[in-house]
Amino acid sequence: MIRSIAIFGATGDLAGRYLMPALTALLQAGLLPTPVRVLGIAREEWDWARFCRHTAEWLQSCGVADTKARDQLLSSLDYRAADVTDRRQVAAALAPLDEPVVAYLALPSALFAPVIEALGAASLPKGSRIVVEKPFGEDLTSAKALNRLVHEFFPEDAVFRIDHFLGMQTVQGIPGLRFGNRLFETAWSRDHVERIDVIWDEMIALEGRASYYDRSGALRDMIQNHLLQVLCLLAMEPPSSPSADDWRSRKVEVLRAVTSLSADEVDRRTVRARYAAGRIENRETPAYVDEPGVESQRGTETFAQVALRIENRRWAGVPFVLRTGKALAMERQEVVVHFKAASQSLLGAGAGNRLRLQLGSDRVAMDLNLIHADGRFELQPVEVDVKMAPQPIPAYGLLLRDVLKGDLSLAVRDDEVEESWRVVEPVLEAWAEGKSPLKEYAAGSEGPAMGEEPIADS
Ligand code: BG6
Repeated sequence: MIRSIAIFGATGDLAGRYLMPALTALLQAGLLPTPVRVLGIAREEWDWARFCRHTAEWLQSCGVADTKARDQLLSSLDYRAADVTDRRQVAAALAPLDEPVVAYLALPSALFAPVIEALGAASLPKGSRIVVEKPFGEDLTSAKALNRLVHEFFPEDAVFRIDHFLGMQTVQGIPGLRFGNRLFETAWSRDHVERIDVIWDEMIALEGRASYYDRSGALRDMIQNHLLQVLCLLAMEPPSSPSADDWRSRKVEVLRAVTSLSADEVDRRTVRARYAAGRIENRETPAYVDEPGVESQRGTETFAQVALRIENRRWAGVPFVLRTGKALAMERQEVVVHFKAASQSLLGAGAGNRLRLQLGSDRVAMDLNLIHADGRFELQPVEVDVKMAPQPIPAYGLLLRDVLKGDLSLAVRDDEVEESWRVVEPVLEAWAEGKSPLKEYAAGSEGPAMGEEPIADS
């Protein structure tokens, strides 16, 4: 296992909110090599003590309670102030690390290319790895260029493209649920499934992220990566072995089978919208366009819905509806598999069964049709709800541990990221040309009006 992690952008939000708590959880569980060395690199002219204080504040605000693990993390920290785009300064910051290192790019994506070049020039110890956050590129062309650049310095098996949804317990549970239960294994196809929804509705609004989000929007921020990854796990064929490459190849096959939407289909099968002023619970929320840093003429969407088709034997004709939005009335973050209704029933037509996997809160529920309690032959819908034990290690912790171990199963491969861009690119292009006009919804509402059917389909 690698024992040194260099975090580029160590004073930023991602490092403070996700990476440091994840490392602390791993230390608490005894899952990190000791001693581990965490080198923070960022522009701020701080010393070690200032960086430790900053990190301790983040850990406190994230509710990290274990003081032993917290102190262990703080004592493993080191800090170097550097311009991360300056080759000489990056090489100097990394010079004390003489063992293989994990270089974690917790940075705005505009800095990925210069930092990768600086890392290449720094000649890292053999066996070092690189972790790149999302967004990996902003379209297919830029993602391909970034892949070419990374490969100049790192072989693909040293590259970890992060998608933290893959570390979520219920997302990790999808293949087991599908392939480990005959009930689902046999029913998991177009013969029995009517539609699958992957929904990530959030109550949070922009939260000061305009410099990133206004250039990205909901489709790039969530659908191109997180929700398409979930779709892959829902739709893939069983891999022939547990090796990382077999898993990833199966996911790529799914993406390849997703049909590209024509401009007309974009009109019928996608929805985009942005929030206007409103109230979320008791909070007054300004309109997206009035948030500091937003340029309203960009027309950035804060809500996106796309109905995709997978043209293969298992899924032909089944819509996969991916939806995400910010500033909505409630957090609804789930996969819903809508099964077809039973073909014939003496008991009357029961509703089709629905399987719901709660992505955020570790619950699995199934709607079944059972006979009414009074013993008559009458069907009644019943929800069977299972709450799993909470995830002991946060998603980022699992991913970081895999990086240190060199396990690529949960990392997104070069062809996967490119194929994901291929899937969303026709939508991005058609939207840029004004197809599927930008709707509005009030902050704190259920989203834009969409009529009865979630997606016009024919
Ligand atoms: C991030 C997106 O990748 O995932 C955010 O950039 C989104 O916009 C977030 O809010 C959701 O994941 P989590 O784990 O932070 O709830």
